[in-house]
Amino acid sequence: MELLPTGDGTPTLFHPGYLEAYHPRQGALLQARRLYLEGSRTHLHPAPRVLEVGLGLLVNFRVTLENALARGVPLRYLAVEREPLPASLLAQVRLPLPRAEGVFEEILEAWPAQRFAGPWGELRVVFAGVEEAPLPFHWASAVYLDPFSPRVNPGPWGLPVLKKLRRALRRGGRLVTYSAQGAFRRALKEAGFALHRVRGVGKREWTVGIAVGVPPG
Ligand SMILES: C[S@@+](CC[C@H](N)C(=O)[O-])C[C@H]1O[C@@H](n2cnc3c(N)ncnc32)[C@H](O)[C@@H]1O
Repeated sequence: MELLPTGDGTPTLFHPGYLEAYHPRQGALLQARRLYLEGSRTHLHPAPRVLEVGLGLLVNFRVTLENALARGVPLRYLAVEREPLPASLLAQVRLPLPRAEGVFEEILEAWPAQRFAGPWGELRVVFAGVEEAPLPFHWASAVYLDPFSPRVNPGPWGLPVLKKLRRALRRGGRLVTYSAQGAFRRALKEAGFALHRVRGVGKREWTVGIAVGVPPG
């Protein structure tokens, strides 16, 4: 797979199977910061626990880690990834994040592994599809839902997975994603989320779901 530049200078990849890029052309970093980090309020959380569906190039992870390191708070990050990329390819994706890139170097030395830890916190990776992956209950402060789009990859956007993600979230936690698809949003409500539409960058709307009420059985 070949790296392509995005609008903010950070690279992305094009997946030949899904025929979609890993990040929007406007910018991989931009989306990671505005949508995932800030849209989920993780940038304000005193002890964030992030559950990500689709670790990809670890852009969202590194942006989140950079913020946690700058604030001096520990980060716990659990990612579900069905198709991990080789270390040689990941090593070419450098980001202007001085604190997080040091940790990224250490991660690359052992990649792929199920657990990485240090004074900065912990990254655990479940190498499976989210449909099958065991997830913790009532654990996450935020869910970053970032597989490819519902059109080309419907599994992670359907009601069974959304219910699982809702159960993994603590009450008041946020699920954030770039998709604004109608069927997905209806399923999100059914799974026990309050739906918020937020203005996107490079597209009209993003979606934020807030975990309210009792998780579905
Ligand atoms: C858009 S990319 C994610 C980009 C990533 N969040 C980042 O910060 O660089 C989508 C990722 O989701 C993964 N993926 C797709 N379907 C999945 C599924 N059902 N379960 C787990 N991972 C999945 C793909 O392998 C790919 O790495």
